[in-house]
Amino acid sequence: QASERESMYLVSEYAQQYFSNILHTHEQGKAIGLTYFKERGFTPETIKKFKLGYALNEWEAFTKSALEKGYKLDYLNKTGLTIVKENKQFDRFKGRVLFPIHSMSGRVLGFGGRILTNDKKAAKYLNSPESEIYHKSKVLYGLYQAKKAIAKEDNCFLVEGYTDVIQLHQAGIENVVSSSGTALTPGQIRLINRLTNNITVLFDGDAAGLRASLRGVDLILEQGMNVRVCSFPEGEDPDSFAKRTPYEELVLYLEENAKDFISFKADILTQESASDPIKKAEVVRDMVTSISKIPDTIKQELYIKECSRIMNISEEVLFATLAQLTNTES
Ligand code: CTP
Ligand code: MN
Ligand code: MN
Ligand code: MN
Ligand code: MN
Repeated sequence: QASERESMYLVSEYAQQYFSNILHTHEQGKAIGLTYFKERGFTPETIKKFKLGYALNEWEAFTKSALEKGYKLDYLNKTGLTIVKENKQFDRFKGRVLFPIHSMSGRVLGFGGRILTNDKKAAKYLNSPESEIYHKSKVLYGLYQAKKAIAKEDNCFLVEGYTDVIQLHQAGIENVVSSSGTALTPGQIRLINRLTNNITVLFDGDAAGLRASLRGVDLILEQGMNVRVCSFPEGEDPDSFAKRTPYEELVLYLEENAKDFISFKADILTQESASDPIKKAEVVRDMVTSISKIPDTIKQELYIKECSRIMNISEEVLFATLAQLTNTES
């Protein structure tokens, strides 16, 4: 229903303005929220550009304000901004800094909210629920702010989190988006594909980041796009790395460390156990599996040749493996 969706957009837009206003003008917002963002190294311009906000540590401060302005409880509930339970209503976001999530055209769809402590018991991020206006599998955080730069650079950096997007942006690298909290989907990749054929995956330097990037690579290849992968030192993510690295050095790091997926997978093997033939066979099979996802047969052939060179396996064997994999798939 179009008018219902429109009402949900309007209440989300109001929420974004309300939470930004709290961040910039309320004593608690300034003392806690603004201080938090400043400590993370975000400048006032960055905070404005991403329309960051703060939710007071109160039960229904936002809901009350929205109802007073005439927004209907039904839409507050449907966007997940207000939780309604047994005739009681309370704010979803309490005592968190907020990252509004925009559509490609700049409409507010939902929020990610981060706790300010490092309390391991509470979820670090709380996000708006899936709703009639927020289909998580079809949204990329930062795309609205990044779309021009993605087209201009003819490349899109893909990161894990909200703060990775923001910190890179602030560092001068604006062609960056994040799948934020959901595993990357084909729909998200197609959004990028409207602007460029090239994705560089930048994932956290930990086991989860490595797993996510390997999964992402195959999905991107399946969509017929070119993919490179750049990893970060153990324990670092693009946010922490960009924060401590001067612009020229950052650009150089990304250029020197972004590898195509064959070299990336070969490197992982080298780090683990290059001399173990069983392990090596697994990696080669995995490379050919990735190659089998590529729709363009000319590119397939070029990657087979690269794989042959790097892994020192004959092209004949690799093509035979590729043929086997392609047959079992169809
Ligand atoms: N995420 C989430 N819910 C969680 C943890 C993570 O939705 N409980 C999402 C968030 O979008 C987050 C991304 O996954 O930005 C990456 O998670 P992580 O690397 O743990 O967080 P960072 O983005 O590095 O956050 P920070 O630097 O604030 O710790
Ligand atoms: Mn819909
Ligand atoms: Mn992580
Ligand atoms: Mn991270
Ligand atoms: Mn981080």
